[in-house]
Amino acid sequence: MHPINVEDYRRLARRRLPRIFFDYIDGGSFDEQTLQANRADFGAYELKQTVLVEPRPQDLTTRFLGARQALPFMLGPVGFLGLYSGEGEAKAVRAAHAVGMPFCLSTFSIASLADLRAITAGPLHFQLYVLDDRGLTEEFLAAARAASVDTLFVTVDTAITGIRERDVRNGFRSLTRLTPSLLARFLLRPRWLLDMARTGQPSVRAIEHRPDFGRGALEQAANLSRRIDKTLSWADIGWLRERWAGKLIVKGVLSPEDAVRARDLGCDGVVISNHGGRQLDGATSTIRALPGIRAAVGPEFCLMLDGGIRRGTDIVKAIGLGADGVMLGRAYAYGLAGASERGVADIIAILTREISISLSLMGVASIDALKAGGASLVLPRR
Ligand SMILES: Cc1cc2nc3c(=O)[nH]c(=O)nc-3n(C[C@H](O)[C@H](O)[C@H](O)COP(=O)(O)O)c2cc1C
Repeated sequence: MHPINVEDYRRLARRRLPRIFFDYIDGGSFDEQTLQANRADFGAYELKQTVLVEPRPQDLTTRFLGARQALPFMLGPVGFLGLYSGEGEAKAVRAAHAVGMPFCLSTFSIASLADLRAITAGPLHFQLYVLDDRGLTEEFLAAARAASVDTLFVTVDTAITGIRERDVRNGFRSLTRLTPSLLARFLLRPRWLLDMARTGQPSVRAIEHRPDFGRGALEQAANLSRRIDKTLSWADIGWLRERWAGKLIVKGVLSPEDAVRARDLGCDGVVISNHGGRQLDGATSTIRALPGIRAAVGPEFCLMLDGGIRRGTDIVKAIGLGADGVMLGRAYAYGLAGASERGVADIIAILTREISISLSLMGVASIDALKAGGASLVLPRR
């Protein structure tokens, strides 16, 4: 199959990855209602078609996170990229930086910030989980400063991990080492297994110096997730604000009240996110949450959005409804798992093309014109 859209890459990823990892990427919590709503609710909006406008050169650049960006979307934090494809984080960052797009590294990564900084000078962001071990949290901040990270995304919607039933059935949560039965399942995906064998046993590089977190990525990750601070509060966001001089973005906001609170605490923006439907099942879709949040925070405060982005039209709708920029999650993880670095690059190219075609058919010459047109270009479906 020659993949031509994100869904094709999803299918390719399903064929290439051991089921335990594909389901981990693909699944959501409980009945997966929010996961589905993230997709379905893009259908609640329609795009205004305008014909016979004089062709003008198209400009897809726009401003978010305090900088002029080449495209209206970026690669958001996805854990364990290095388990979906050998050196996955390096592949993703290279694909992003090839088009001048920022990449945000997850706390749950095989590669460290220093590893990535060694291969690229491009825009590198870091997603932080605040741990109950504040010393280690401060070490993460120091590593981010050393790697010239200018934007820190603090994820706040995972104090307690939602139950993802696909993972429970597959034994993902209790996965700490390679057992014979796991190896047997891995052998069903020889291509992936060879790729992993080539890169050697993965480990979470950022905590390699901490033997108390165990050995090997699976055990380290299990211990790391146990250490995520379950008592995190707005006071801790203030604590972070004092320690982080760069841009601070709160990831995982769904209500106008929480967005206003983040703004008033001096944060530089929020990511409207329900963690891709992996946390509170029954929570609103992100696209539905967006207009109310924009109205509450005013036009200047940076709003990023993620959740269910699979088409260029999804990005056009999010921008038209008030997002400054959009973040990809699963879309590029499918690309990486399906076809390595080329897959990530292709996902970026596919979405770029879809945005470009859609804007042309709308008679809109640029992302900034889409932002200016806003609700006159993206309307609730009647
Ligand atoms: C496999 C996977 C791992 C993820 N890991 C993280 C993570 O480590 N930190 C984080 O803040 N968000 C994480 N997320 C959430 C994404 O950043 C993003 O919010 C979500 O994927 C957006 O939904 P979408 O994938 O449907 O586009 C993860 C999502 C997936 C699918």
